[in-house]
Amino acid sequence: MRSDSDESQLNSPGAAAESCLRCERLRKSFDGTTALGGVTLSFPNCGVLAVIGPNGAGKTTLLNVMTGFLCPDEGGVFLGDTELTHLPPYRIVQAGVSRTFQDLRLIALLSVLDNVM
Ligand SMILES: Nc1ncnc2c1ncn2[C@@H]1O[C@H](COP(=O)(O)OP(=O)(O)OP(=O)(O)O)[C@@H](O)[C@H]1O
Ligand SMILES: [Mg+2]
Repeated sequence: MRSDSDESQLNSPGAAAESCLRCERLRKSFDGTTALGGVTLSFPNCGVLAVIGPNGAGKTTLLNVMTGFLCPDEGGVFLGDTELTHLPPYRIVQAGVSRTFQDLRLIALLSVLDNVM
């Protein structure tokens, strides 16, 4: 995720001031491939925010960094006044931020309810 200025500003208009979850200037590269080129993003307290982009744009990398599955090279993730950057995933879940996974795997021997749980 990057822009010509290498500094993506994805804030929804007017949302930053009342935002609960936010990313500030996140950068993440893999062996020279820049996945996140300085992403600043605010999630409003209510409503739905979609992050869209072509294959390889960095959407999953963003979620991985925000939920502690990857450490950013630079930048931070915040929930209100609490910094989540570098916390392990279980601590981030305890703080109230959860996710689903793109590579969802179902366990055929379990019921639908057990799979969801
Ligand atoms: N673990 C990794 N090691 C090396 N490169 C990676 C790794 N994870 C992601 N990348 C690279 O980072 C870039 C962003 O990938 P990412 O998976 O975040 O994109 P995406 O927007 O989720 O794509 P898709 O729409 O296909 O799910 C791609 O160039 C990808 O090849
Ligand atoms: Mg993805």
